Amino acid sequence: AVIPVILSGGSGTRLWPVSRESFPKQLWPLLSEHSLLQETALRATGPRFGAPMVVCNQEHRFLIAEQLRGAAVQDARIVLEPVGRNSAPAVAAAALLVAERDPDAVMWMMAADSAIADVAALHAKLDQAVVAARAGRIVTFGMRPTAPETGYGYIEVGDALADAPGVHDLRRFVEKPDAATAATLVAGGRHLWNSGMFVFTAATMLAELETHAPDVLRAVADAVARRRQDLDFIRLDPEAFAACPNISLDYAVAERTRHAAVVPADLGWSDVGSWSALWEITPKDARGNVAIGDALLENADDCYVRSDGVLTAVVGLRDVVVVVTEDAVLAMHRDHSQDVKRVVDRLKADG
Ligand code: GDD
Ligand code: MG
Repeated sequence: AVIPVILSGGSGTRLWPVSRESFPKQLWPLLSEHSLLQETALRATGPRFGAPMVVCNQEHRFLIAEQLRGAAVQDARIVLEPVGRNSAPAVAAAALLVAERDPDAVMWMMAADSAIADVAALHAKLDQAVVAARAGRIVTFGMRPTAPETGYGYIEVGDALADAPGVHDLRRFVEKPDAATAATLVAGGRHLWNSGMFVFTAATMLAELETHAPDVLRAVADAVARRRQDLDFIRLDPEAFAACPNISLDYAVAERTRHAAVVPADLGWSDVGSWSALWEITPKDARGNVAIGDALLENADDCYVRSDGVLTAVVGLRDVVVVVTEDAVLAMHRDHSQDVKRVVDRLKADG
């Protein structure tokens, strides 16, 4: 069985004021009655899958345990990080723990916060990826790019693999290119976006970490060896884990490995990174509006309005996002959705 590994460490700053460090976006029901984390876990249930593993910050352990129970996800192993060190250490910990039971087990790493519309297509592509993973590949899912985004990894698709239908060699992986490079890559038509999901065996990932990020592997191996089991939680050793370099899997392994592959896939994928991304994937009324909670729109077009508790009326505006929470209001043009991060940075700087 494939072991789902869900990384839930990000804080989703661009979805402020709903997403906060103490209650990040993946724990909110943004698209359905389930949170993004629950939807992610539910996509990985069924006969294909073994019990999932979730890697998260220790502060979120009860929220996450409760949400998994709420979605009837059974037997999850919840791995707790004392501090965030980005995705490479999180995956290293998961691979070490899985390898203790079976080094040849296939793992499916996922972000906790993406939306995928076509789950049947996802499972079909996953089955193809698993074949290549068993043959020693680290398999990515390639999404057709729609704009020269700089926040994504870009994958150059190579030749089809002879031994794994649907899977291609991955020629080059470029994480977060600058704007000019991103524009060139999209215009060239040979690159896909990295979805942030990876399929590999525990042994393959550990070997690649040993080759390309030995300092990460060493620190995390130490933190895993000195872990404490606490109820259902696996607590990584704080001192050992804190000594680990902070680096994402994309920079540590995906850009460097010679064993990468890609499954081009059309899944209706979105990383739900910003309010405008959320507006795009949410069903809208005839005038393109989304109104959630205590929101009232009059003569508005293409707006996203969400309010929890405070009656919020939006009149005569277009392309506007208004988000109201108990203690903060965000009002902005939809095209400025990336700039929310700057507000959060300023709030942090002001203490
Ligand atoms: N447990 C844990 N600990 N998880 C983490 C940590 C951490 O310290 N840091 C990040 N994560 C999780 C996030 O919660 C998310 O689920 C996933 O790892 C990816 O992290 P992001 O911070 O969201 O990465 P990104 O969006 O900048 O880039 C990645 O995703 C893009 C697609 O959304 C890369 O994989 C890109 O190549 C990709 O295009
Ligand atoms: Mg992301």
